[in-house]
Amino acid sequence: MTRIVCVAGARPNYMKIKPVMDALERRGAEVVLVHTGQHYDESMNDVFFRDLGIRPPDRYLGAGSGSHAQQTGRVMAAFEPLLDELAPDAVVVVGDINSTLACALVTAKAGPLLAHVEAGLRSRDWSMPEEVNRVATDRVSDYLLAPSPDAAANLRAEGYREDQVHVVGNVMIDTLLANLDRARQSDVLDRYGLTRGGYGLVTLHRPANVDDPGALRGLLKALGEIAGRCPLLLPVHPRAADRLADLGVPDGIRLVPAAGYLDFIALQDSARLVLTDSGGVQEETTALGVPCVTLRENTERPVTVDEGTNVLAGTDPDRIVATVDKVLDDPPAPRCPALWDGRASERIAAVLLDGGTARTRPRPTDLVPAAGHGPQ
Ligand code: UD1
Repeated sequence: MTRIVCVAGARPNYMKIKPVMDALERRGAEVVLVHTGQHYDESMNDVFFRDLGIRPPDRYLGAGSGSHAQQTGRVMAAFEPLLDELAPDAVVVVGDINSTLACALVTAKAGPLLAHVEAGLRSRDWSMPEEVNRVATDRVSDYLLAPSPDAAANLRAEGYREDQVHVVGNVMIDTLLANLDRARQSDVLDRYGLTRGGYGLVTLHRPANVDDPGALRGLLKALGEIAGRCPLLLPVHPRAADRLADLGVPDGIRLVPAAGYLDFIALQDSARLVLTDSGGVQEETTALGVPCVTLRENTERPVTVDEGTNVLAGTDPDRIVATVDKVLDDPPAPRCPALWDGRASERIAAVLLDGGTARTRPRPTDLVPAAGHGPQ
């Protein structure tokens, strides 16, 4: 039987790994779930396992918080002997967090084949830790599982072999579609006294937005103006909690604890608009057809702008307010990218399991940059 290690480490990983595990197990693979422990709080971790019905991890590495090097290094040091013990045929990593990169690097040197779910996304912003993680993880992966054609185009431009690149669709949307009916039964709107279409939902956690008080102050100023037109609800990420408490928030913005998966989908689904610096939220709003204004200068998910409901507003307060005014007056039409259809994980399982065991596949060769393109 093919043994596949699936890695999850932090909040945005859980909804990506769950459908992949299920699809692999449906096709007869033995799946071992390894949790790195990058996120560990009830509100960042446990509630997602409950909401999504993920079984308890088979192995827990307990890496916890720390600087990038500490966190990445702790995961690597704990994952290496575990991989040796488990001796899987393949390892699946998802997304772009430090745990993704750590387990990718260990796997590439240890021998099992490596599959990266969400390969090829590029913000071209090297100040984002996630961009470093994305590019480095792709570079050592055997299977590059891209959510959309733009991601595959990035990989081809960087010189990856055609047989490594597979456009499979978006696993996060598999989980969204599978849980939407349950999410719509959540009582979260009643609990917060909200009505459908009567509020805006905000998330902020990117280091560039929340670690620097000057940047956060500018964003809060913009949000305060927007709240005059549309009251805002802001579930707080632990990374931003202290700084928000220090600075205080303008009237019309309500801070609430970080939400669980089903509650947060319900909050997005009923929002008049969503303001965010998250990657996954840009995708979920596109799939739900809810207008999204992204509080960043760039996105690694341009398909949500070209074929979805996302509008990039940057971080300048005046531009944010002007963008939101435009979006509220004339919301983008709901559209959904191809292959965001709830079946991405099935395609991934087919790529990994069809055609014999993963061990028979060749390792990646050197990159062959296409004319005019080099690796970034
Ligand atoms: C990480 C990911 C980011 C992802 C985000 C989702 C990286 C580089 N970043 O960022 O891509 O979008 O998760 O949340 O991997 N903390 C807690 N409880 C927890 C986890 C964290 O209180 O369960 C606090 C700690 O003080 C920690 C801080 O949040 O220092 C940041 O956590 P960390 O995992 O380092 O990065 P995130 O900002 O969560």
